[in-house]
Amino acid sequence: MAGQIPQRFIDDLLDRVDVVEVVGERVQLKKAGRNYSGLCPFHQEKTPSFTVSADKQFYHCFGCGAHGNALRFLMEYDKLPFPDAVEQLASRLALDVPREGADDPRAQQREKKRKEGVNLLELAASFYRERLKMQEGQDAQRYLQERGLSQEVVSTYGIGYAPGGWEALKQHLSARGIGEPVQVEYGLLIHREDTGRTYDRFRDRVMFPIRDIRGRTIAFGGRVMGDEQPKYLNSPETPVFHKGRELYGLYEARQASSKLEQLVIVEGYMDVVALAQYGINDAVATLGTATTEDHLSRLFRLVSRVVFCFDGDRAGRQAASRALETALPQMIDGREARFLFLPEGDDPDTLVRREGSDAFKDRATCAMPLSEFLFEQAAKGRDLNTVEGRERFASQVLEALNKVPEGMLKSLLLEALAKRSGLAQAQLKALLDKRAAASAQKEAQRASSQEVVHWEQVESPDMMSFEHHEARPVSAKASSKTPRQGRSQPRRLQVLSTVGRIVQLLLHEPRLVTSLPDALDWLPESEETPLCRDLIKLLRAGRYRSPQVVLAHFQGSHEGQVLTELAARELLIPKSTREAELTGLVEHLVEVQRKRSPQEEYQALLDLERSGKKLDKAQQQRLASLVMELVQRR
Ligand code: UTP
Ligand code: MN
Repeated sequence: MAGQIPQRFIDDLLDRVDVVEVVGERVQLKKAGRNYSGLCPFHQEKTPSFTVSADKQFYHCFGCGAHGNALRFLMEYDKLPFPDAVEQLASRLALDVPREGADDPRAQQREKKRKEGVNLLELAASFYRERLKMQEGQDAQRYLQERGLSQEVVSTYGIGYAPGGWEALKQHLSARGIGEPVQVEYGLLIHREDTGRTYDRFRDRVMFPIRDIRGRTIAFGGRVMGDEQPKYLNSPETPVFHKGRELYGLYEARQASSKLEQLVIVEGYMDVVALAQYGINDAVATLGTATTEDHLSRLFRLVSRVVFCFDGDRAGRQAASRALETALPQMIDGREARFLFLPEGDDPDTLVRREGSDAFKDRATCAMPLSEFLFEQAAKGRDLNTVEGRERFASQVLEALNKVPEGMLKSLLLEALAKRSGLAQAQLKALLDKRAAASAQKEAQRASSQEVVHWEQVESPDMMSFEHHEARPVSAKASSKTPRQGRSQPRRLQVLSTVGRIVQLLLHEPRLVTSLPDALDWLPESEETPLCRDLIKLLRAGRYRSPQVVLAHFQGSHEGQVLTELAARELLIPKSTREAELTGLVEHLVEVQRKRSPQEEYQALLDLERSGKKLDKAQQQRLASLVMELVQRR
């Protein structure tokens, strides 16, 4: 039997996760002043009354009163018991959950180690900062000065200096009782297998602490002051640092302004700090990797506009086209992505020094819109005066469009494509739908044969190869904490209604129909309800046992389209927990239904009808009987 989770651990956990992030992965949130708002996931609503506060670290729904912190949210939304919710949150930070009690002697040990991990990086950061101020840091001071950085920027970014020699930090930390294995684990010490000796990873380098969104040091980047190689050395992946996820300067950008309007993604540490030196505080840098989906979805939760900054050369264009691919699935309405190409030979650091901050800001403001870059890419090397050229052009754009979520941008792009290619919009739309259906079917096939463990490429290997990249096994459970889908299929970020989720679960796993209660009176009225009823009826009739056959049954109808879309969304949970989720959802609905008055049910149906949806027969009958019931009560 596992022991209790120490309260200290829970407090610490809540301190380190961001409720906006946790909620934002499950509910589509928009920034509204200092807070975020969206449609409440705990009751059905059309106008957002659900808010999440980054400052206070809680969510609140003015509609239904749902309220709590990140932990509570996971318990309610993912329907997790308390310890599982703690596990979930902890796994986001790659932490083990400690347990108290004599029956688990390793628990205290683990807890101690975890605390060390956090402290140790802070200790190292202040050690480096101190050293910069001392005699031995003078060269580094001079270097920073030569690169035009003020004391203020140096201190804002916590820049420091790692002394030469092999053991300066090791001795400093060891003297404070921190064991070498932990120092190795957190990337500060290197352990040589052959000699068994350990030594400081960072030596004689200017040190940039990498901080998480809440300001805790989680890793370092260190630059040499001369021409030695490698120019920059970064911390390896550690329990608290995953470079495909973190962005240098994000914490500082959020500190500098409480209402960020955009974020500019640049390549280097120096670019971020140089821009800050010139009063441009909204730049962040990836850490020697290409921009990942994780990066982007984090940024888009903070701001609605992201500007990618690239070198003007060929490599820059290549990196940009990769960034475009990554951005497409994220482009839900209200978001904007732009591409800023710098003059050849410049990076943001050199450019802002030469041109000044206003010129740089102007460049960012006028950066190329995503649509333009998309068309430019598709037109490249093609003669649009020929039919073939236009056809290839259109087909490349359609392929990209297939990845864009439904919405204004997609419609506008389709319209623009019609203009540019000379093809009729209706024809293009038909082609697009065909593509979507094809990839959805592929996905459904994949889903039905899905294993619990799959291999995921952690980052795009080709953009920069300074550091090794690896493929690591990701269990479906682990990947559920960051909803991500295969690179090629369309991604729909809209929030699913509970009924929609039930339909999705049944579609992926038709056999689960047997776990539903006989009567369907717990199904609330929603857009998907008729479909859900039909699907259940169909599955109960017993002939359909795979997603493909179900899809084929509905093919060509509106329902078919909805199902195809649902099939394209990954379930993000392993097979083993699907049944539990379904039962949980149904139980929740039964409970809600039990509490609902006939008046409320009547109102819900009425609203549905007024919104222009045609009620199906069962709904019409229900409406009629509710009217009778309500009349009789009067
Ligand atoms: P750059 O070589 O463009 O560096 O690498 P920079 O930021 O302009 O730095 P300065 O101006 O020469 O000081 C861009 C980024 O690529 C990663 C670092 O994150 C760096 O900021 N990089 C670069 C490495 O990880 N290792 C390297 O050896 C070089
Ligand atoms: Mn540079």
